Amino acid sequence: MKVIQQPLLIQKELIALKNTGKRIGLIPTMGNLHKGHLSLFQLAQSNCDVLVGSIFVNPMQFGANEDLDKYPRTLENDIKKLTELGVDYLFTPTEEIIYPIGTKTNTSVEVNRLTSRLCGYSRPEHFRGVATVVNILFNILQPDVVVFGKKDYQQYLILSAMVKDLFLPIEIIGGDIVREENGLAMSSRNKFLTEQQKEEASSLRKILLNSAKEIEDGILNFERIKQRAIEQLKRRKFKVDYLEICNKTTLEDANKEDKELLIACAAWLGKPRLLDNIEVSI
Ligand code: PAJ
Repeated sequence: MKVIQQPLLIQKELIALKNTGKRIGLIPTMGNLHKGHLSLFQLAQSNCDVLVGSIFVNPMQFGANEDLDKYPRTLENDIKKLTELGVDYLFTPTEEIIYPIGTKTNTSVEVNRLTSRLCGYSRPEHFRGVATVVNILFNILQPDVVVFGKKDYQQYLILSAMVKDLFLPIEIIGGDIVREENGLAMSSRNKFLTEQQKEEASSLRKILLNSAKEIEDGILNFERIKQRAIEQLKRRKFKVDYLEICNKTTLEDANKEDKELLIACAAWLGKPRLLDNIEVSI
């Protein structure tokens, strides 16, 4: 695997490969790779000829009181994992390279719809940072296909909308959520949980599964299902940021005519804010 920090250097190599007809696949990440990330590389592998990863902890998507400084950085280990998987290129730019004048850039990318709800409630600037950096990565690396995880379902939807709205010639694929044995969605932030909290955290998945089952069984009083799930989370010491039952495409509150729903939740357990969701078809 070639590890390259300089945008123009990696761009030159990838464009040369594209010109020979190769299809470039990209997995953007912030590093500290776990099986959830690796599953996206594996999914891309069967959809492209040249597999590219990026690792960049993007300061623009962290709020003032969030964990940018504490975000785990484990580059050497990450390189080992990606090499074993057979990844061809890894792009590892510095902050100075991506944001030469700092994160108050002249230009940023804003997706207007889909960004204000769910994670947008408590992280109003977050998705502008995500859309901007992903656009920068797309422009440097010029991928044909990109895989995002549905663990961050709203992010996946927003970036799919961005690609469509801006006519970017890129195919977006969503990868399924990879979980620990107890059902907890894998995340770089899980390492801030104690062993006991990791066990307790698995009830988030169970509560979402229960809510999904109620809907599948024909109970369509979404407000009641939602309030009950929130109560159960609170009883298990979660501090709930949001729990919503919404239309899977628009992220608006679900109504009784909707057939494809998403139950999405963000909740703190101790230090980390955990994110999970479940797709429900009626
Ligand atoms: P990061 O949190 O490192 O995640 C990188 C990719 O891995 C995202 O597409 C995310 O949804 C996916 N992912 C994380 N945990 C997963 C799991 N348990 N199962 C499946 N996929 C999982 O998301 C970001 O970085 C950043 O916002 C980024 C898109 C790189 C822009 O900075």
